[in-house]
Amino acid sequence: MTALTLSTSSAAALRADAVVVGVTKGAKGPEVAAGAEAVDKAFSGRLAATLETLGASGAEGEVTKLPAPNGLKSSVVLAVGLGEGPADGAAYDTEALRKAAGAAARALAGSKKAAYALPVQDADAVQALAEGALLGAYAYTAYQSSNGKAPVAEVALVGAKPRDKAHKAAVERATVIAAEVNRARDLINMPPNDLHPKSFAAVAQEAAKEHGLKIEVLDEKALVKGGYGGIMGVGQGSANPPRLVKIAYTGAKGRNAKHLALVGKGITYDSGGISLKPAGHNETMKCDMSGAAAVLSTVVAAARLGLPVNVTGWLALAENMPSGSAARPGDVLRMYGGKTVEVLNTDAEGRLVMADAITRASEEKPDAIIDVATLTGAMVLALGHRIFGVMANDDAFRTSLHEIATEVGEQSWPMPLPTHLRKPLDSATADISNMGERMGGGLAAGLFLKEFVGEGITWAHLDIAGPAFNESGPFGYTPKGGTGSAIRTLVRVAEKAGAGELL
Ligand code: BES
Ligand code: MN
Ligand code: ZN
Repeated sequence: MTALTLSTSSAAALRADAVVVGVTKGAKGPEVAAGAEAVDKAFSGRLAATLETLGASGAEGEVTKLPAPNGLKSSVVLAVGLGEGPADGAAYDTEALRKAAGAAARALAGSKKAAYALPVQDADAVQALAEGALLGAYAYTAYQSSNGKAPVAEVALVGAKPRDKAHKAAVERATVIAAEVNRARDLINMPPNDLHPKSFAAVAQEAAKEHGLKIEVLDEKALVKGGYGGIMGVGQGSANPPRLVKIAYTGAKGRNAKHLALVGKGITYDSGGISLKPAGHNETMKCDMSGAAAVLSTVVAAARLGLPVNVTGWLALAENMPSGSAARPGDVLRMYGGKTVEVLNTDAEGRLVMADAITRASEEKPDAIIDVATLTGAMVLALGHRIFGVMANDDAFRTSLHEIATEVGEQSWPMPLPTHLRKPLDSATADISNMGERMGGGLAAGLFLKEFVGEGITWAHLDIAGPAFNESGPFGYTPKGGTGSAIRTLVRVAEKAGAGELL
């Protein structure tokens, strides 16, 4: 990963390949953002005018490179757009800083050192800049023989103070969070012939060992013995048998300790099964384990940050394949806990593995369960590729999660669980079917999961099918491919729960 340093020298005196400055969209053209004063001085105060001549406007994501004038130790100046600047005296928006830091890091791939002369108003800004740089520099090259340009090796944050405790802590937090988001991205991007339930469980075991976490892995034998009919039913058609992983971090003891359970959908490949997906719908289905990756990363992040909270992660891992041993539309599965489900569409497999894991997680009576899943195409149709849906059995909890996501720079939207969509899930043969009404399909899936939440337990469901995988070009700090969606939100949730501000 890119190395981050806090620098006390002036942006002009730092020897780097490029010095990065911010530009905002002013009323009368681009304006140079705070932090770039020394650089502007080297341009005799004409940096904004020069940028305008070059066509820059200060729009978010805009990157302009220009040769550095005499007086700067760096050879290139890279101006990155911050969008509308803050009102006089107000702070820069942290998400705008995170995006700009990411766009600059990506534009500087192949260079050794970048000096960021961007606005550093407080420790939150330091964290956002650090996260943006580390997330934006990410590239997945594990399967390429010529690795192209390497990520920028070092980013020096000018104006962040190495002796300031809050600044130092901000960089440490950002480093852990970005490393864990990037861990999830690696898992999501790994081709499904190499990442299957068993190898995913092995990755979790490795991480557990490194960070002192308790881990239990149920293999196919244990899953059959334990009565996990949902996970087994989905996995039975694959040559790669399923797993259920429990990975637990204990950071709090005593009566006030909060316990958060996280359940992640880990379909390492979703072909649709016997209800096979058509071509055009299966090319990116290696991403169907993004929820499980997010859960693993969050538990490890909680441990690395030493949060005073208990977090148990459940990874429901299976491969959904068609074969002679696969579940058929019409089969009835006996789920963990005893409920029966008629499988009307084998492509609605996520809710089946999640149901088992949610029932199992409920047995431990956590203060809350949050599940994360690339669950429905319907949610992608509803909210698009950058926003995840938040559903819950508790309106206040749903609102809190939406607000926390906003706070950390993740886009989400609260969605309802309307009771009238429950009836279409009725089955003529079993307790419930896995297919409801097509319209509002994301909500029906949420209603299905709700049935498996233990009595009296606060629960929320994040459908990340849209933002989990970026099929278009990179933007801000988001690369092509796996994004690591929901991790920053979940880490903040764990942090708040530990601080007694949630649950
Ligand atoms: N993994 C898919 C959902 C998905 C779609 C994730 C697009 C990421 C991008 C899920 O298992 C699925 O196939 N859902 C079906 C459910 C339907 C058959 C009730 C869907 O949404 O079409
Ligand atoms: Mn599916
Ligand atoms: Zn799926």
